[in-house]
Amino acid sequence: MTEITSRLSTALADRYRIESHLGEGGMATVYLAEDLKHKRKVAVKVLRPELAAVLGAERFVQEITTTANLQHPHILPLFDSGEADGFLYYVMPFIEGETLRDKLNRETQLGIEETVRITCAVADALNYAHQQGVIHRDIKPENILINEGRPSLPTSALRWLSVPPGARA
Ligand SMILES: Nc1ncnc2c1ncn2[C@@H]1O[C@H](COP(=O)(O)OP(=O)(O)OP(=O)(O)O)[C@@H](O)[C@H]1O
Ligand SMILES: [Mg+2]
Repeated sequence: MTEITSRLSTALADRYRIESHLGEGGMATVYLAEDLKHKRKVAVKVLRPELAAVLGAERFVQEITTTANLQHPHILPLFDSGEADGFLYYVMPFIEGETLRDKLNRETQLGIEETVRITCAVADALNYAHQQGVIHRDIKPENILINEGRPSLPTSALRWLSVPPGARA
């Protein structure tokens, strides 16, 4: 366990038990954890410390309310969020599967039926978000999780951007 993971484990110890590292992107590191209160597996996404320092806890909470209000079968809901020992984190369902990028790397080319199904599901999620005045800003295979053929867009504090009503087309 790295020093950061051990600090994070201690900071979240009363609610979550950090079990393993799931992945990372440009903004965050994602861990598999046990939600001790509800006895379920969750994904805890922790902003990179340098980003957390620039953003600050207050702006983080503002940003996270954008995603907290999205309710769609292909958008992962927000279970929890907060600040602990300087870490800004949010919690979402754990998706046992892989990213669309991993699947494409493994299978090289997907069948037409599967491609259309994934595309329609993602488009439906984005269309729903747009109706709520929210745009995604970084849609790509790395940001689409696939579980038994079902795509999900992970929760993100910074990726989704709320568009003020006056600025909408
Ligand atoms: N809910 C989840 N369940 C399982 N694995 C996840 C989950 N969310 C993220 N991951 C893993 O963590 C990796 C990084 O996650 P994500 O893309 O959300 O972070 P990021 O790229 O830093 O942030 P963002 O995409 O919001 O800019 C994913 O590619 C995936 O492997
Ligand atoms: Mg990402």
